[in-house]
Order: sequence, then structure tokens, then C-alpha cells
Amino acid sequence: MQPTKIAQLQQALTERAQQHLLRTPQTLQQYSGRLVQIAERDYLNFCGNDYLGLASAPQLLQAYADGALKYGAGSSGSPLVTGQHQIHQQLTEQLSDWLGVERALLFSSGFAANHAMLTTLADKQDTLLLDKLSHASLIDGALHSNASFKRFSHNDTAALAQLLAKHNAAMVVTEGVFSMDGDSPDLTSMLALCNKHSAMLLLDDAHGIGVLGPQGEGSAAAQGVSNNQLFCTMANFGKALGVAGAFVAGSKTVIDYLEQFARHYVYSTALSPALCAAVVKSIGLCRVEHWRRDKLQSNIALFRQLADDLPLLPSQTAIQVVVLGSSERALAVSQQLKTAGIWLSAIRPPTVAKGSARLRITLSTQHTEQDIQLLVQQLRQWL
Ligand SMILES: Cc1ncc(COP(=O)(O)O)c(C=O)c1O
Repeated sequence: MQPTKIAQLQQALTERAQQHLLRTPQTLQQYSGRLVQIAERDYLNFCGNDYLGLASAPQLLQAYADGALKYGAGSSGSPLVTGQHQIHQQLTEQLSDWLGVERALLFSSGFAANHAMLTTLADKQDTLLLDKLSHASLIDGALHSNASFKRFSHNDTAALAQLLAKHNAAMVVTEGVFSMDGDSPDLTSMLALCNKHSAMLLLDDAHGIGVLGPQGEGSAAAQGVSNNQLFCTMANFGKALGVAGAFVAGSKTVIDYLEQFARHYVYSTALSPALCAAVVKSIGLCRVEHWRRDKLQSNIALFRQLADDLPLLPSQTAIQVVVLGSSERALAVSQQLKTAGIWLSAIRPPTVAKGSARLRITLSTQHTEQDIQLLVQQLRQWL
């Protein structure tokens, strides 16, 4: 191996550690949603994305096992060669029915789906307008596309209006629920603006799918916007739906185009059929088990009420945030919480802007009133 290159890599790692920015994966010995076991100790988990507790739902685990026996563990090929099984088709039809759109296409992850959506759909003549706080996969997709690319201030429709006045027929990209702030754009106003300027609206609903809308259809449905009014919607299966993988949904033409031209789809092994069987079950449960969303909403309300003296960002979603500033401080508070049996990782740059390291608290259907009381009591003690 080239010694100079190795020295450069080591130097970058050392600098990250010196800046308190090194991230270390923690190996879970057990996971039940509400609790995680790490190094022989149980912790209350307040930083996952399993908002509805579906990742460990027995019916879903059974569907996964049955799916493996019936359809196989792996798809064995890219979807356009031999990778598309009956269960993939069932899943995409279920998605179309759930979201009220013509077609959906599966991807191996939300990162791949977002990257595919922007690099494939946006061309040289297009302008991509992204919210300032867009997820890394959207930023990379925009940067790697042939389109020109501008960003507007977070959730700021006035700033977006100014850009739209200069760039007709733009592609506007936003998120249903922002992953590190927990807030949402006003989709109705954004859509009206887009219609006025013949622009297209593309939505990443990674944190809205399953959680928001009458049957968990996501942020658009929750705000009275039909998914048909959007150019397309991306959402993943790895958060509220408790599995992994993702989809892009929209009109037949948009999805037909992605199916032909999205390299992440064409040149990649199709999702595991067993996994698809688990996702089909998860969506089925999510649509009818309203109690999961109701319990989550009451946990959010309880947390906001108990923590009303804490410096929380304004969010009504399962993502609740306390900005602490320096990475050092965020790490120190996270460590104190860990000592008290609460697992809440510090979120640091470059995931968030420099000087805005934070605790990103995620609430779930599975948390009890006592869990939330303990969390707030501990936060109050260490903030
Ligand atoms: C807003 C947003 N979009 C996309 C992704 C990527 O999804 P996935 O984890 O399925 O790759 C994530 C999650 O990390 C996310 O938070």
C-alpha cells in the first residue's frame, strides 16, 4: 500500500478525534426498540428511528422468516435481469395503493433512492432548489446531477419564491420532517408556489412515512396534499416501517423513466425478497394499527409538556432537539445520560452545522410515561 496515502488517512482520523468528531459504532447485544443492551447494560433508547415499534413486532419477524422460506433470502440479480420476484411486485402495488399514486420503484436504501431521484431526473436544463438543511443524500444527488443547484433558507417560502421568480420550471426538493430538527415545511404553500412558477415539488419523507397521515401515508397526506400533486416522493422502509430499503413513488412516466435510467436501480441487486415480505407486513400493520400513531402522538405531547422549560427546538414530531453548541458539550451531556441509563447519542458536525451540536431525542410508541419522565428529569439535571 502507498505509505503517503496511509499517512494522509491517519492524519485525517487523528484530526477528527482531536475535534471530538470521531464516531464509533456501538454493538448492540440486544434490541427491543424501547431498550438496547450494550456491554451487558440495558439502556432506554431515545435515539432510534423505529418510531412505531414495528422493527421488533412479532408479526413482522414472522413475515420475514416466512418470506425467506417462500421467496428466498436473496433476490439473486438486478431487478431487470432475474431479481424481480412476485413479492417485489406485491410491495410496489401496495405502495401505489397506499400513497394513491400510479407507480413505485424499490431501491436498496433511502440514500440510493434520493441520489437516483436527483441525478436521474434532473438534467442540464434544470435547476434544483433544495432546502438548506437537506439530507446528505439529497445534497450529493444534486451535486452529482447535471442540473444547476441552489439552496434556500430552511422552510422559508419567501426565499423559495425569490428563487422561483428567477428560475422557471425548477425542481424544488424538501423533506416532510427534517431529520436533525424535527420540523416540517408548509407543503400546501410550497405546492402553490411551485404551481405558480410551473415548478415541480419532490419530497423526501423518510421521517414522515408511517408516522403521519390518517393511515401513515406520510407528510403530504397529513397536510391535505395529494401525493399525485407532487412530482415524486421518496421514503424509506428503515425508519417507522422497521426494516430497510426505500422507494420512489409518482406518476407512471416518472417511475417508468427511473426504471430505465436510474443506475442505482438498473445496476444493483434487487432488495431481498424476504425483506420485502417483512415490509409488506409492516405496511399492512401500519395502515390499520392506528394505536401506534396515537400512542406516539401522546408521547410527543407528554414530552413537550414535561420539558416546556427546556430549550427545545419547535417541533411537533417524534424528533425533539436540544441544541448545545460545541461537540464537547454535547458529548459530555450524552455521557451523563448514559450513566443514568439513557442512550442518546450526540449529533455533531458535519451532520449538523458547526457550533450546533445537539441532542436529537426520538420518541417512540414503545416509550412509557415513566421513561419520558426519567428522560426529562435527567435532561433538566445536565443541561
Ligand atoms: C431525511 C433522510 N433522507 C434519507 C435518508 C437515507 O435513508 P437510508 O437510511 O434508508 O439510506 C435518511 C436516513 O438516514 C434521512 O434521514
